[in-house]
Amino acid sequence: MSEFINIALPKGRLGKEVYKAFEAAGYGCNDVLSPDTRKLIFENEENGMRYFWVKPSDVAIYVERGAADIGICGKDILLEYSPDVYELYDLGLGKCRLAVAAKKGFRDRKDYTLRVATKFPSVAMDFYSKKGRDIDIIKLNGSIELAPILNLSDVIVDIVETGTTLKENDLEAIETIVPVSARLIANKAAFTFKKEKINEVINGIKNINGK
Ligand code: PRP
Repeated sequence: MSEFINIALPKGRLGKEVYKAFEAAGYGCNDVLSPDTRKLIFENEENGMRYFWVKPSDVAIYVERGAADIGICGKDILLEYSPDVYELYDLGLGKCRLAVAAKKGFRDRKDYTLRVATKFPSVAMDFYSKKGRDIDIIKLNGSIELAPILNLSDVIVDIVETGTTLKENDLEAIETIVPVSARLIANKAAFTFKKEKINEVINGIKNINGK
């Protein structure tokens, strides 16, 4: 085997699910899912696959800069950071949505600057500028749902999956911005030089996925 395909997997449930699809397609590698190791990088010389676990929000950085040839990344991250990569395949996994949410009963009066707490400032800015609405972005890194409860913001722009976090904090979704799912992305140069192998791997995954 001359050359490896380097794959950035997002740490967590989605990454494990995606890796299982790679494995089922014949592109597995020992110990990738082993719970007993803190190792981050795994390779299989026989099928030329090299996997590494990265923070989900960092996958696109590894791929854009060519440290990974391909990676698995949520559409939310692609919309927020617009990395210069090819988006090749919608895996249909990790489905959720980016939405605006607020305290139950919230009504936007539109005569003041709306305070928006979010991990996705670019998505939020784009969404409200298309509506011609002035907003004040409050960039947070997690537990976004706290912001309207503590009157740090009027609304939030965040991921909603099951809706449980909103419900348990007496918030409600007001508007969906965009549906989100996991995408397979590729480094542009790698897709030129390793096109055949990358397409072979993607087709294997598509067969497992049934589309
Ligand atoms: C995400 C998101 C919401 C929650 C939505 O948070 O930011 O808080 O999941 O999921 P649900 O609709 O199924 O409840 P995450 O767990 O990534 O943690 P965070 O608060 O650190 O962003």
